[in-house]
Amino acid sequence: IRVYVPRDAAARSVGADEVAERIAAAAAAHGQDVQVVRNGSRGMLWLEPLVEVETAEGRVGYGPVAPEDVDGLLAAGMLSGEVRDIGAHLGVVDELPWMKRQQRLTFARVGVTDPLSAEEYTSYGGIRGLRAALARTPAEVVETVVDSGLRGRGGAGFPTGIKWRTVLGAESDLKFVCCNADEGDSGTFADRMLIEGDPFTLIEGMTIAAYAVGASEGYVYLRSEYPDAVATLRAAIEIARSEGWLGDDVLGSGFAFELHVRVGAGAYICGEETSMLESLEGKRGQVRAKPPIPALEGLFGRPTVVNNVLSLATVPVILAEGAEAYAAYGTGRSLGTSVFQLGGNVARGGIVETAFGITLGELVNDFGGGTSSGRPVRAVQVGGPLGAYLPVEQFGLPMDYEAFAAAGAMVGHGGIVVFDETVDMASMARFAFEFCAAESCGKCTPCRVGAVRGVETIDRIVAGEDRQKNLVLLDDLCELMTDGSLCAMGGLTPMPVQSAVRHFGKDFGA
Ligand code: NAI
Ligand code: SF4
Repeated sequence: IRVYVPRDAAARSVGADEVAERIAAAAAAHGQDVQVVRNGSRGMLWLEPLVEVETAEGRVGYGPVAPEDVDGLLAAGMLSGEVRDIGAHLGVVDELPWMKRQQRLTFARVGVTDPLSAEEYTSYGGIRGLRAALARTPAEVVETVVDSGLRGRGGAGFPTGIKWRTVLGAESDLKFVCCNADEGDSGTFADRMLIEGDPFTLIEGMTIAAYAVGASEGYVYLRSEYPDAVATLRAAIEIARSEGWLGDDVLGSGFAFELHVRVGAGAYICGEETSMLESLEGKRGQVRAKPPIPALEGLFGRPTVVNNVLSLATVPVILAEGAEAYAAYGTGRSLGTSVFQLGGNVARGGIVETAFGITLGELVNDFGGGTSSGRPVRAVQVGGPLGAYLPVEQFGLPMDYEAFAAAGAMVGHGGIVVFDETVDMASMARFAFEFCAAESCGKCTPCRVGAVRGVETIDRIVAGEDRQKNLVLLDDLCELMTDGSLCAMGGLTPMPVQSAVRHFGKDFGA
């Protein structure tokens, strides 16, 4: 009998290791032939640890399972998959509404396979994309990615294929592919879950990117706060090398690509692409002025692809299934699927991968089930700490880069953080400035000084000191930071501030 217990950090943080050990020990004590597989998480975080038992009908789930529940569940017949009269029994996991309503392309294998089994990876469709890429010319691979409509999933939404076309066209005897896995946005965890749950997909995507642009070396810049992801990725790279998916002669094609992991030291600004490159070069993580763009002068001054984990991990399915199949999902210029992350005060938090176009309300209410406190939702912040706060009146907004931009918001990396009616939006706006003051790299004045002045101005507004005058001053400061900052850190901090003032003016005494 195969039993699955996630090895994902979210599941481990609530006791998955002990659950796995207890199941293995109990099965051994009763002489049962049980194989405990440590899979990734399905992304239903409120059900972790989620135990799945393979049956003829499919994988039957139990969750959340506390370590002390294990003996009772085994006695009740958990391993037969037929237990019906206990709370933890969920039925066939793939049939659960949360899973059935999703379109998992990037996350197709996450939670399904053993993340470090090369055999399972290939039997679930892995490496098909790399083989398809190697059978084409690099320029054809680039055009396939252009045609798919894939846009940068790190937040900015720049067309991935166009970026690759720039790197392919740049003359250099040395080019790089760098994966930005710094995932600093609060409320986001998709990069981590992908790396912990299906690391070969990222490796395959980076190898395809390298072949497409003519790069010979790749780096994954991974944050130190993700020790499990670091260990899993390092182990996966060793396995990929032994399988011939990396190295001197990738799949016998003559193409050579080497991949390295570098661990960041925990600065939010190192997620900004040029700071990340500085940090990779062993320097202090400070933003570089653009131009030149990294596509032309990136790591060590060489043409460099810098893409987010999710962008790179989506490339294999595009090459395997074709650009048209991918572009058939989505809406307008936001094509394909996106991996949304529900967090904060939400009843059902986790990963939802669906086509663009789903509304914010469907994600928060239908998937998320409203707040975990049971109080009404008041605000959601979409796109990380630099994203806008939106009221429930805007729940009809489709998840679409352009629709969000038109509403003064951004989809960003797809993080959605929910707040109930007890939230004080003036303190959230203040926090945006405090965060910017703490994380600013200090290179430009609007951000370095503006963030500190912003905190002071909000304090004066809340204290009722010259409120109108200070609200005008706040707007002026926000305009200056938006227009005058060198990077998105200072440039986007006004977004949460101004959206809070616009939609929740009463918290500022307006
Ligand atoms: P950007 O708009 O300056 O650039 C986007 C990307 O396109 C960059 O990689 C840039 O080098 C590239 N690019 C631009 N023109 C190009 C051309 N002609 N050819 C090739 N490449 C070109 O945005 P930026 O500053 O890189 O990112 C800002 C976004 O980052 C924000 O929208 C925010 O959502 C997101 N963000 C994400 C975080 C996370 O944890 N994932 C954290 C903080 C911000
Ligand atoms: Fe540095 Fe802030 Fe200027 Fe960005 S906006 S370069 S983080 S000081």
